[in-house]
Amino acid sequence: MTQRIRKAVFPVAGLGTRFLPATKTVPKEMLPIIDRPLIQYAVDEAIEAGCDTLIFITNRYKHAVADYFDKAYELEQKLERAGKHEQLELVRHVLPKGVRAVFVTQAEALGLGHAVLCAKAIVGNEPFAVLLPDDLIWNRGHSALKQMADANQATGASIIAVEDVPHDKTGSYGIVATDMFEGRQACISAIVEKPKPEEAPSDLAVVGRYVLSPKIFELLEATGTGAGGEIQLTDAIAELLKTERVDAFRFEGRRFDCGTHLGLVEATIRFALNNEKLAGPAREVLQRMLAEDC
Ligand code: G1P
Repeated sequence: MTQRIRKAVFPVAGLGTRFLPATKTVPKEMLPIIDRPLIQYAVDEAIEAGCDTLIFITNRYKHAVADYFDKAYELEQKLERAGKHEQLELVRHVLPKGVRAVFVTQAEALGLGHAVLCAKAIVGNEPFAVLLPDDLIWNRGHSALKQMADANQATGASIIAVEDVPHDKTGSYGIVATDMFEGRQACISAIVEKPKPEEAPSDLAVVGRYVLSPKIFELLEATGTGAGGEIQLTDAIAELLKTERVDAFRFEGRRFDCGTHLGLVEATIRFALNNEKLAGPAREVLQRMLAEDC
């Protein structure tokens, strides 16, 4: 039986240039949706999937992510003295007991594949998850990664999250070709990073959730620069599927591309409309604004 995934890798060393000037000082993973930063949503997803070791691939300028998961002694004392117990619990439980955070520095920004390779020594020889926090996945039921971890357990295959994208958008994603889907899953026969629409093997795009075999590390070590002059995870996966089964997985849930302005706005609206306290007032505000614009 396949070992259940316990370790999750979060590549968070990117510059976040789309969100400048905010990202001059705030890493894009720390941008909030309502009251929690993007990274918290990805971390919660990994924990729900059963991970207890969270590996953040960061760079020497990004202290905010490490600070966020560290203990905030002064703040906790102040909240305790002020009797703000609810807030105190929120601050204390960004990571539940028994979950550890490990920080690895990516000395050079050489691409997503290189970032994942930086986790090799900590992951070792077991299947693991990769989550790109820009891709925020909203769900009523089990999180996308939990669904994928279960699929990995059942088949032993590496599992890559996918969804359909408009044909003219293939150049923004890894694109897969697959065999016939059985339920949510299909064996991947080809994968290519950011193909032009006329060269794309399909419109089925990779979303930032992966459950990978540890064999990916030796393949990443042999991977040269690819699309955009970067070491691409997609290129190593293309090698992996020559020797191991890699499945595409149409997860249940709604993805928001929070690496774009509109995606962040959409996600904020979605989460507001599903927030117990905000749902009513947020709906009213939206209706009023839309009416005013007419
Ligand atoms: C990365 C991957 C790409 C994937 C995308 C999902 O690209 O390289 O294959 O489709 O994430 O968000 P990026 O968005 O980092 O350029």
